[in-house]
Amino acid sequence: MNLLHTLKIGNVILDNNIILAPMAGITDRAFRTICKEYGAGAVCTEMVSSKALMYGDEKTKLLLNTKGEKRPIIVQIFGSDIVAMREGAKIVEPIADIIDINMGCPAPKVIKNGDGSKLLLNIDLAVKIAEEVVKTVNKPVTVKIRKGWDSKNIVYEELGKRLEEVRGVCNYFAW
Ligand SMILES: Cc1cc2nc3c(=O)[nH]c(=O)nc-3n(C[C@H](O)[C@H](O)[C@H](O)COP(=O)(O)O)c2cc1C
Repeated sequence: MNLLHTLKIGNVILDNNIILAPMAGITDRAFRTICKEYGAGAVCTEMVSSKALMYGDEKTKLLLNTKGEKRPIIVQIFGSDIVAMREGAKIVEPIADIIDINMGCPAPKVIKNGDGSKLLLNIDLAVKIAEEVVKTVNKPVTVKIRKGWDSKNIVYEELGKRLEEVRGVCNYFAW
Protein backbone atom coordinates (compact mmCIF):
# COMPACT_ATOMS: atom_id res chain seq x y z
CA MET A 1 0.00 0.00 0.00
CA ASN A 2 1.32 3.41 -0.96
CA LEU A 3 0.95 5.60 2.09
CA LEU A 4 2.00 8.71 0.16
CA HIS A 5 -0.57 9.79 -2.39
CA THR A 6 -2.10 12.88 -3.91
CA LEU A 7 -5.02 14.35 -2.03
CA LYS A 8 -7.94 16.37 -3.33
CA ILE A 9 -9.62 18.81 -0.97
CA GLY A 10 -12.50 20.47 -2.81
CA ASN A 11 -10.96 21.65 -6.07
CA VAL A 12 -7.42 21.80 -4.64
CA ILE A 13 -5.08 18.94 -5.49
CA LEU A 14 -2.19 18.40 -3.08
CA ASP A 15 0.98 16.70 -4.41
CA ASN A 16 0.89 14.45 -1.38
CA ASN A 17 -1.05 13.81 1.80
CA ILE A 18 1.54 15.20 4.22
CA ILE A 19 0.06 18.37 5.69
CA LEU A 20 1.78 20.63 8.17
CA ALA A 21 -0.60 21.00 11.12
CA PRO A 22 -1.32 24.51 12.37
CA MET A 23 0.77 25.41 15.41
CA ALA A 24 0.45 28.78 17.10
CA GLY A 25 3.86 30.35 17.53
CA ILE A 26 5.50 27.75 15.26
CA THR A 27 4.02 27.56 11.76
CA ASP A 28 5.03 31.05 10.69
CA ARG A 29 6.16 31.99 7.18
CA ALA A 30 9.75 30.78 7.70
CA PHE A 31 8.67 27.42 9.11
CA ARG A 32 6.07 26.92 6.41
CA THR A 33 8.62 27.71 3.71
CA ILE A 34 11.07 25.12 5.08
CA CYS A 35 8.36 22.46 5.33
CA LYS A 36 7.30 23.15 1.74
CA GLU A 37 10.92 22.90 0.58
CA TYR A 38 11.15 19.51 2.26
CA GLY A 39 8.06 18.34 0.39
CA ALA A 40 4.93 19.00 2.46
CA GLY A 41 1.80 18.62 0.35
CA ALA A 42 0.28 21.64 2.06
CA VAL A 43 1.08 23.89 4.98
CA CYS A 44 -1.17 25.69 7.42
CA THR A 45 -0.86 29.07 9.10
CA GLU A 46 -1.05 29.56 12.84
CA MET A 47 -4.64 29.96 14.03
CA VAL A 48 -5.94 33.46 13.41
CA SER A 49 -8.70 35.09 15.46
CA SER A 50 -11.75 35.97 13.37
CA LYS A 51 -12.58 38.86 15.72
CA ALA A 52 -9.05 40.25 15.40
CA LEU A 53 -9.39 40.03 11.62
CA MET A 54 -12.75 41.76 11.70
CA TYR A 55 -11.36 44.60 13.80
CA GLY A 56 -8.27 44.96 11.56
CA ASP A 57 -5.68 44.07 14.21
CA GLU A 58 -2.20 44.81 12.84
CA LYS A 59 -0.39 41.90 14.58
CA THR A 60 -2.95 39.48 13.16
CA LYS A 61 -2.30 40.79 9.65
CA LEU A 62 1.37 39.83 10.08
CA LEU A 63 0.35 36.21 10.71
CA LEU A 64 -1.17 36.23 7.25
CA ASN A 65 1.96 37.29 5.38
CA THR A 66 2.38 34.54 2.81
CA LYS A 67 4.41 36.57 0.28
CA GLY A 68 6.51 34.37 -1.99
CA GLU A 69 5.30 31.11 -0.45
CA LYS A 70 4.60 28.03 -2.52
CA ARG A 71 0.94 27.07 -2.61
CA PRO A 72 -1.25 25.50 -1.45
CA ILE A 73 -1.65 27.30 1.86
CA ILE A 74 -4.32 26.54 4.41
CA VAL A 75 -5.37 29.46 6.60
CA GLN A 76 -6.86 28.51 9.93
CA ILE A 77 -9.36 30.82 11.61
CA PHE A 78 -11.00 30.48 14.99
CA GLY A 79 -14.00 31.97 16.76
CA SER A 80 -17.55 31.27 17.80
CA ASP A 81 -19.23 34.47 16.67
CA ILE A 82 -20.96 33.77 13.38
CA VAL A 83 -20.59 37.32 12.06
CA ALA A 84 -16.89 37.48 12.94
CA MET A 85 -16.30 34.07 11.36
CA ARG A 86 -18.05 35.20 8.20
CA GLU A 87 -16.12 38.47 8.03
CA GLY A 88 -12.84 36.77 8.97
CA ALA A 89 -13.34 34.17 6.25
CA LYS A 90 -13.91 36.93 3.69
CA ILE A 91 -10.65 38.59 4.71
CA VAL A 92 -8.52 35.44 4.48
CA GLU A 93 -10.16 34.15 1.31
CA PRO A 94 -7.78 35.89 -1.13
CA ILE A 95 -4.75 34.49 0.72
CA ALA A 96 -6.02 30.96 1.37
CA ASP A 97 -6.27 28.00 -0.98
CA ILE A 98 -8.22 26.23 1.76
CA ILE A 99 -9.82 27.72 4.87
CA ASP A 100 -9.70 25.63 8.02
CA ILE A 101 -11.89 26.25 11.04
CA ASN A 102 -10.35 25.53 14.44
CA MET A 103 -12.66 23.47 16.64
CA GLY A 104 -9.94 21.84 18.68
CA CYS A 105 -7.85 24.41 20.54
CA PRO A 106 -8.03 23.82 24.31
CA ALA A 107 -6.06 26.95 25.38
CA PRO A 108 -7.82 28.74 28.27
CA LYS A 109 -7.70 32.12 26.53
CA VAL A 110 -9.50 30.57 23.54
CA ILE A 111 -12.13 28.42 25.27
CA LYS A 112 -13.08 31.17 27.74
CA ASN A 113 -14.74 32.91 24.77
CA GLY A 114 -16.49 29.76 23.58
CA ASP A 115 -13.99 29.32 20.72
CA GLY A 116 -11.81 26.38 19.66
CA SER A 117 -12.65 23.07 21.34
CA LYS A 118 -15.47 24.69 23.36
CA LEU A 119 -17.51 24.45 20.16
CA LEU A 120 -17.52 20.68 20.63
CA LEU A 121 -20.02 21.29 23.44
CA ASN A 122 -22.34 23.15 21.07
CA ILE A 123 -22.64 21.12 17.91
CA ASP A 124 -25.50 23.20 16.49
CA LEU A 125 -23.39 26.36 16.72
CA ALA A 126 -20.34 24.54 15.33
CA VAL A 127 -22.36 23.43 12.30
CA LYS A 128 -23.87 26.92 11.84
CA ILE A 129 -20.39 28.42 11.78
CA ALA A 130 -19.23 25.90 9.19
CA GLU A 131 -22.35 26.59 7.09
CA GLU A 132 -21.80 30.34 7.26
CA VAL A 133 -18.15 30.08 6.21
CA VAL A 134 -18.90 27.58 3.43
CA LYS A 135 -21.63 29.75 1.97
CA THR A 136 -19.53 32.93 2.24
CA VAL A 137 -16.33 31.83 0.52
CA ASN A 138 -15.50 30.22 -2.74
CA LYS A 139 -12.70 28.10 -1.35
CA PRO A 140 -12.76 24.62 0.15
CA VAL A 141 -13.44 24.64 3.88
CA THR A 142 -12.12 22.10 6.37
CA VAL A 143 -12.74 21.79 10.09
CA LYS A 144 -10.13 20.58 12.56
CA ILE A 145 -11.75 18.81 15.48
CA ARG A 146 -10.97 16.69 18.50
CA LYS A 147 -12.77 13.51 19.51
CA GLY A 148 -14.76 15.56 21.96
CA TRP A 149 -14.59 18.04 24.81
CA ASP A 150 -13.81 15.31 27.33
CA SER A 151 -14.29 11.54 27.77
CA LYS A 152 -17.96 12.11 28.67
CA ASN A 153 -18.61 14.17 25.56
CA ILE A 154 -17.27 12.28 22.55
CA VAL A 155 -18.85 13.95 19.53
CA TYR A 156 -16.58 13.37 16.55
CA GLU A 157 -18.94 10.95 14.85
CA GLU A 158 -22.05 13.09 15.19
CA LEU A 159 -20.22 16.32 14.38
CA GLY A 160 -18.38 14.71 11.46
CA LYS A 161 -21.62 13.51 9.93
CA ARG A 162 -23.29 16.90 10.39
CA LEU A 163 -20.31 18.66 8.83
CA GLU A 164 -20.37 16.34 5.84
CA GLU A 165 -23.92 17.50 5.20
CA VAL A 166 -22.91 21.15 5.06
CA ARG A 167 -23.63 21.75 1.38
CA GLY A 168 -21.53 18.68 0.66
CA VAL A 169 -18.37 20.76 0.63
CA CYS A 170 -17.06 20.69 4.15
CA ASN A 171 -14.30 18.20 4.89
CA TYR A 172 -13.45 17.55 8.49
CA PHE A 173 -10.14 16.39 9.81
CA ALA A 174 -9.15 15.08 13.18
CA TRP A 175 -5.48 15.96 12.75
C1 LIG B 1 2.85 24.48 20.00
C2 LIG B 1 1.58 24.00 19.41
C3 LIG B 1 0.68 24.89 18.86
C4 LIG B 1 -0.51 24.45 18.29
N1 LIG B 1 -1.34 25.34 17.70
C5 LIG B 1 -2.45 24.90 17.06
C6 LIG B 1 -3.26 25.80 16.32
O1 LIG B 1 -2.99 27.01 16.19
N2 LIG B 1 -4.38 25.29 15.73
C7 LIG B 1 -4.71 23.96 15.80
O2 LIG B 1 -5.73 23.56 15.25
N3 LIG B 1 -3.94 23.09 16.49
C8 LIG B 1 -2.82 23.52 17.08
N4 LIG B 1 -2.00 22.62 17.71
C9 LIG B 1 -2.32 21.18 17.64
C10 LIG B 1 -1.61 20.53 16.47
O3 LIG B 1 -2.03 21.06 15.22
C11 LIG B 1 -1.83 18.99 16.45
O4 LIG B 1 -3.17 18.70 16.26
C12 LIG B 1 -1.38 18.34 17.75
O5 LIG B 1 -0.06 18.74 18.07
C13 LIG B 1 -1.46 16.80 17.65
O6 LIG B 1 -0.58 16.31 16.70
P1 LIG B 1 0.66 15.43 17.16
O7 LIG B 1 0.09 14.25 17.83
O8 LIG B 1 1.37 15.13 15.86
O9 LIG B 1 1.47 16.32 18.05
C14 LIG B 1 -0.81 23.05 18.29
C15 LIG B 1 0.09 22.15 18.86
C16 LIG B 1 1.27 22.60 19.40
C17 LIG B 1 2.23 21.58 19.99
